[in-house]
Amino acid sequence: MSGPARTAIVTGAGSGIGLATAVRLAADGYAAALVDIDERGLDKAAAAVDEAGGQSLVYVHDLADGEGFAGVADDVAGRRPAIDLLVNNAGVGVRASLTETTTEQWDRTIAVNLTAMFHTCRTVLGHMLRAGHGVIVNVSSVAGVVGVAERAAYCASKAGVVGLTRAIAADYAARGIRANAICPGTVATEWIDRILSGAEDPEGARAAMERRQLDGRMGSPEEVAAGIAFLADDSARFVNGTAFVMDGGMTAV
Ligand SMILES: NC(=O)c1ccc[n+]([C@@H]2O[C@H](COP(=O)([O-])OP(=O)(O)OC[C@H]3O[C@@H](n4cnc5c(N)ncnc54)[C@H](O)[C@@H]3O)[C@@H](O)[C@H]2O)c1
Repeated sequence: MSGPARTAIVTGAGSGIGLATAVRLAADGYAAALVDIDERGLDKAAAAVDEAGGQSLVYVHDLADGEGFAGVADDVAGRRPAIDLLVNNAGVGVRASLTETTTEQWDRTIAVNLTAMFHTCRTVLGHMLRAGHGVIVNVSSVAGVVGVAERAAYCASKAGVVGLTRAIAADYAARGIRANAICPGTVATEWIDRILSGAEDPEGARAAMERRQLDGRMGSPEEVAAGIAFLADDSARFVNGTAFVMDGGMTAV
């Protein structure tokens, strides 16, 4: 694959924030390696990247298979000059307080939201450190910086993402690596649609979710993609190891 000079790997690219990020990065001049467990979502994302004039590589992969990610990264590295950017976006949620959380729910949430990032970051850092440069953006959540009711495993996983990201910044800043977390508030994606479709009063639940933001609306996937694109960009070269909260003011009050 020739064309765009830079290369980004985006996980969870088949839907929502990941899909919007892939399209945005394509417009910003990245070739996008799209990783997701959902093959149909990946087809949709690849078509959207094409439409934006970009180029994509597609990988159907369950990120809970941490060791298996090396095959994805090696393939990208073999086809592209370097891996310039890793956006760890894939995630899952479970609605449960701590005492309601099953061991299986806990293990799956930590595996996909946190342990998968350990593997993807470790693997891709190998490539980036050899190249002498690289940027990592890890998608956390407001649930990574404040407590959210009935989200025990999710909060733990997302706070772990912030800690992991800061540790990467501390260890590798001097070797040309920047790593930042982004912590969105409520964002109108399929994720939220799924939560609302299971609510007793979907419209009431939507209104309550919208009210959590100071401006009374949910964010859009494109707004979060713009935040990720900023953190990825050279103009953010003084931004390292931060947890960038982008939540319409949800946690400001
Ligand atoms: N939507 C929100 O309100 C919101 C708020 C804060 C943070 N986030 C975070 O943003 C990220 C994206 O969320 P979204 O709202 O776009 O969700 P989404 O459900 O629309 O998209 C998530 C994508 O991740 C993929 N995925 C899930 N498990 C996977 C696995 N094991 N392997 C590979 N791919 C997998 C899904 O197939 C899907 O395409 C998540 O990490 C989420 O925690 C979302």
